[in-house]
Amino acid sequence: MSEPFKIGLIGTGGISRAHLPVYEQFPEQVKLTAVCDIVEEAARERAKEANVDDIYLDYEKMLREADIDGVDICTSHHTHAPIVIAAAAAGKHALVEKPMGNNMQECRDMIAAADKAGVTFMIAHMLRFSPSTEAVRQLLAAGELGEIRAARIDILMNAVGRLREGHWMLDGNAGGGIGMTNTIHEVDLVRHLVGDVKRVNGVTRTVSPRLKNNAEDILCATLEFENGAVGTVLCSWCAVRGPVSQQYTLLGEKGALHSLPVFPIYRGDHFGPVVVSSPERDEPGTEPVMNRREPGRQMRSMEDIMGHYHQLAPGTWGLPSDNCFTNEILHFAECAREGKEPISNGKDILGSMKVLFGIYESARTGKAVDLASL
Ligand SMILES: NC(=O)c1ccc[n+]([C@@H]2O[C@H](COP(=O)([O-])OP(=O)(O)OC[C@H]3O[C@@H](n4cnc5c(N)ncnc54)[C@H](O)[C@@H]3O)[C@@H](O)[C@H]2O)c1
Repeated sequence: MSEPFKIGLIGTGGISRAHLPVYEQFPEQVKLTAVCDIVEEAARERAKEANVDDIYLDYEKMLREADIDGVDICTSHHTHAPIVIAAAAAGKHALVEKPMGNNMQECRDMIAAADKAGVTFMIAHMLRFSPSTEAVRQLLAAGELGEIRAARIDILMNAVGRLREGHWMLDGNAGGGIGMTNTIHEVDLVRHLVGDVKRVNGVTRTVSPRLKNNAEDILCATLEFENGAVGTVLCSWCAVRGPVSQQYTLLGEKGALHSLPVFPIYRGDHFGPVVVSSPERDEPGTEPVMNRREPGRQMRSMEDIMGHYHQLAPGTWGLPSDNCFTNEILHFAECAREGKEPISNGKDILGSMKVLFGIYESARTGKAVDLASL
């Protein structure tokens, strides 16, 4: 067995914690050998938790001195591009948390830097590595829903109330706002499942006075996919005393599919259950739900409706584990070792960034945006 792939963690805040279980579960494949944060206390705390003693307060120094093959970047959005570009220049493979960069130019520069250095560049869109996503992908590939005609994304949270005053996610200059922080997750997921988007229309609003520098807390958009499907996106950080959801719906020619919101959201299989209603999943001999209304009854019961939904079976669906963060880090290490393109490589994810930046441009100009123009 060869040595494990050695990773340096840059940014030891909230999400870095979800990136740690892989090192305990798969020690033969990956090893965390160094950690870095500009806040010493944060770096020390995470290093202790991960049993690592090589600690840095400056990522340039880590890139020069640490015993690492690649880096896992979990820092604020405006730092992603400079860190990925520096890592590539140092010959290190780079996995970076979403969103890839703060604008299209940064994203293109990151891809070019990785190409020039010949290193693997992957964006940590962990939803692509969740077993429930993989189950849906396999179901769509088997044609169970037929052609997808429409998609819907809902993200409803009260994040503004939750984030502390002055948090960088509330600051547009640091890459804050709901679009960069949350919408990009589901936009990428739906693109992964349905296909590329060619045109978008969007509006954004800034409701809370705690947001700065044009960061938005409401984003609403329509999407036109290359294959003719249409989509809607509604994202709000101001769902005060309201629902908390982060989910998507796909409507196909033969049936419908809904991911069900599961919180707390940092569990491994991020989306948890997915329910599907399609002829392939009907019990033999049952009537399609639309034909089942009893004469004289205006409304069908919930039981009637839900009776035609089936939950996708839990399991890993061919992935190494049920934890999407673990699966994504193993995929990164495997691609870097074998010189393969990751599923969420920079060039692919550029398509998701175009959707997001297209929505922002549409919100600014009041016009639909053809993504080929970005
Ligand atoms: N996949 C998910 O579900 C998910 C969830 C939350 C956050 N994220 C993403 O993870 C990234 C980090 O988010 P977070 O919630 O952990 O933020 P955070 O503020 O909790 O942590 C960021 C850390 O990066 C450090 N940092 C900033 N600049 C640095 C630099 N130049 N060098 C080294 N360290 C630096 C900060 O000191 C901080 O400790 C973001 O891209 C965010 O969108 C992903």
